Amino acid sequence: MSFSASESVSPALVSPGEFSLTNISALPPLKLGIMASGTGSNFVAIADAIAQHHLAAQIQIVIYNNPEASVAQRAQEHQISTHLINHRHFPEREVFDQQIVDHLRAAEVEWVVMVGWMRRVTSVLIDAFPDRIINIHPSLLPSFPGIRAIEQAIEHQVKISGCTVHIVRLEVDSGPILIQAAVPVYAEDTPACLHRRIQIQEHRIIVQAIAQLIQNRHPHNLLLEKK
Ligand code: GRF
Repeated sequence: MSFSASESVSPALVSPGEFSLTNISALPPLKLGIMASGTGSNFVAIADAIAQHHLAAQIQIVIYNNPEASVAQRAQEHQISTHLINHRHFPEREVFDQQIVDHLRAAEVEWVVMVGWMRRVTSVLIDAFPDRIINIHPSLLPSFPGIRAIEQAIEHQVKISGCTVHIVRLEVDSGPILIQAAVPVYAEDTPACLHRRIQIQEHRIIVQAIAQLIQNRHPHNLLLEKK
């Protein structure tokens, strides 16, 4: 079997495999808080999955730290509340994180989803939502944590990379792994080209990870269908 650089990869390379929730209309929605710093394509994937009734979830608020982040406009287009908390206005990370916690709590958030949140977090945030914060990272962790994950994958000439959704711990990009997707890396790949290939998979696994959270929250209420 051969791949071409433009081709998306087989669903078999997502682990654990995909499942769908069949009776989601019966479930109270999981209340999500999104934290993002960038363009928000993962936010859109989540919002679209909710709108299409693939996830029994509701986005309560989108918190962003960068005034230029286009995730804010995308959230507003989806009629979802946004709140800018600019880290540059906070001398200490803990005070910044406390502001975030206050807004997440005021919005009655149950689970926090970091999609491209480009700040280190402190125990203020972690302890406020213990084991209830997930993050998406553009590598097959534990390889290439931190920034420049995609560039590092290319520099190391890895032949397979991908993306990971994990529970957030204090150490950057550590924590129990919930789901991963693998993609091929080609000799001619630029970082932008590899990122595009990885993002196709990110949009799938971030939705799958939230589906897992919903399943774990309602283990007896759901019929799960293997695709
Ligand atoms: C994603 O590639 C994510 O893995 C990384 O930041 C990027 C955010 O993309 N942490 P987007 O803003 O959701 O498009």
